[in-house]
Amino acid sequence: MTNYIEKLNWRYATKRMNNTPVAEDKLNRIVEAIQLAPTSLGLQPFKLLVIKDAATRAKIAPAIYNQPQITEGAAVLVFAVWENAGLEEVDAYINQIAAERKVPLEALADFKGMIVGAIDGKTPAELQLWFAKQAYIALGFGLVAAALEGVDTTPMEGFDPAALDLALGLNEKGLKSAVVLAVGNRDEANDYLVNAKKVRRPQSEFVEVI
Ligand SMILES: Cc1cc2nc3c(=O)[nH]c(=O)nc-3n(C[C@H](O)[C@H](O)[C@H](O)COP(=O)(O)O)c2cc1C
Repeated sequence: MTNYIEKLNWRYATKRMNNTPVAEDKLNRIVEAIQLAPTSLGLQPFKLLVIKDAATRAKIAPAIYNQPQITEGAAVLVFAVWENAGLEEVDAYINQIAAERKVPLEALADFKGMIVGAIDGKTPAELQLWFAKQAYIALGFGLVAAALEGVDTTPMEGFDPAALDLALGLNEKGLKSAVVLAVGNRDEANDYLVNAKKVRRPQSEFVEVI
């Protein structure tokens, strides 16, 4: 097995990228890894926008406080959660399970009830927070997958969600930006963090074995 700890040490939140492309197959596998992330009840309550287009990246840069990785990278992934959820989303999911696993809808009635129960009574804000937690798990998958591919990334919360939603027309799509992942290649010459030691609390402090 490859030493993935080495790869995870190689990964760092890249501050400057060098305007070089990321191979299509690598980006596709990173996206696939994100799609393979688990979500609560399997609902996948978010959409992934893969923004390769340079003009669009330039357009959204101000909403992401002009962090240079947005334009210096090769792609920007925006994890956008559902603004709301109801029977329509639940039915679409249940119907897909029935079709793909070839099980009758009746056999999924209890599971459907569980999902409806989890959604019912939550405000849109509560739903969005719950959905964002799912998006962050997928973000983690993307970070690890990219590291294994030797592709650099920067996870980003440093953006103005309302401005980003506006720039991408997310409101019309019933979506809200939750977290952003810049994807590209590190600029060895200009990134002050390129050779910085990774700072983590010692395992003796961080881990408690019971
Ligand atoms: C959810 C999240 C949001 C972050 N937002 C930003 C950001 O907006 N801009 C940035 O340069 N780094 C951002 N970071 C990077 C962190 O500062 C970085 O991961 C942390 O300092 C640990 O360093 P390392 O990732 O290089 O090991 C973010 C990280 C996470 C996980």
